[in-house]
Amino acid sequence: PRVAVIVVAAGSGERLGAGGPKAFVGIDAHTILRHALVRVFSAPLAQVVIVAPAGHEGDALTDALEAAGDRRDLVSVVTGGKTRQGSVSNGLAAVWADVQIVLVHDAARALTPSAVFERVIDAIDRGSDGALPVLPVVDTIKRVADTEVLHAVDREELAAAQTPQGFRRDILDAAYRAADRDYTDDAALVGAAGHAVSVVTGDPLAFKITTPADLDRARSLVSAAPV
Ligand code: C5P
Repeated sequence: PRVAVIVVAAGSGERLGAGGPKAFVGIDAHTILRHALVRVFSAPLAQVVIVAPAGHEGDALTDALEAAGDRRDLVSVVTGGKTRQGSVSNGLAAVWADVQIVLVHDAARALTPSAVFERVIDAIDRGSDGALPVLPVVDTIKRVADTEVLHAVDREELAAAQTPQGFRRDILDAAYRAADRDYTDDAALVGAAGHAVSVVTGDPLAFKITTPADLDRARSLVSAAPV
């Protein structure tokens, strides 16, 4: 199948506090976005759409062309929206007509191995409407109200969602057209449109760089095993 990946990189990165958009913060000599894209380009893809913060489209293109190597024909860059959902929607509008499967990936999950992309693509190839990588929840989770513990939630029923989240292209297009509010992620949006979404095994390296501590973790992982 023809697969496109939309890499959303248009967030402000306020929680990281690096004084600029998160995607262009350096992990080593290379940015978060560039690290994410090197791993994206190792997967079997027909198109890579990068959703950039307004005013940073050129920076995104530079990172993309470096990461793409001889696959630069695959690269499209579009401008992001106010919310992540708006950014995905802008990315979807740029997906080529002959693409059958669309994956949506957070640039902030910069160290996600390409094997995770392959597992998601395989699940859809085998007939799922959508698929996302998950990891078991290790902490005990409590439902709380104000300062009171209401009860513990059964950990066996919980999973932590990662990206890339992949979908049949026709289903994702229709679900985005039908979306009437903001959803927590693409799987929730597609689920709300009535579709079953399945899970594949995630990877600890697909963690999202959100806080300065996450950036430190990414930096030590990359210096221990540079890519
Ligand atoms: O803020 P957070 O890291 O949870 O955002 C997840 C991903 O969504 C990031 O890669 C970020 O760049 C992207 N995003 C976006 N447009 C927004 C908000 C977030 O592309 N308006």
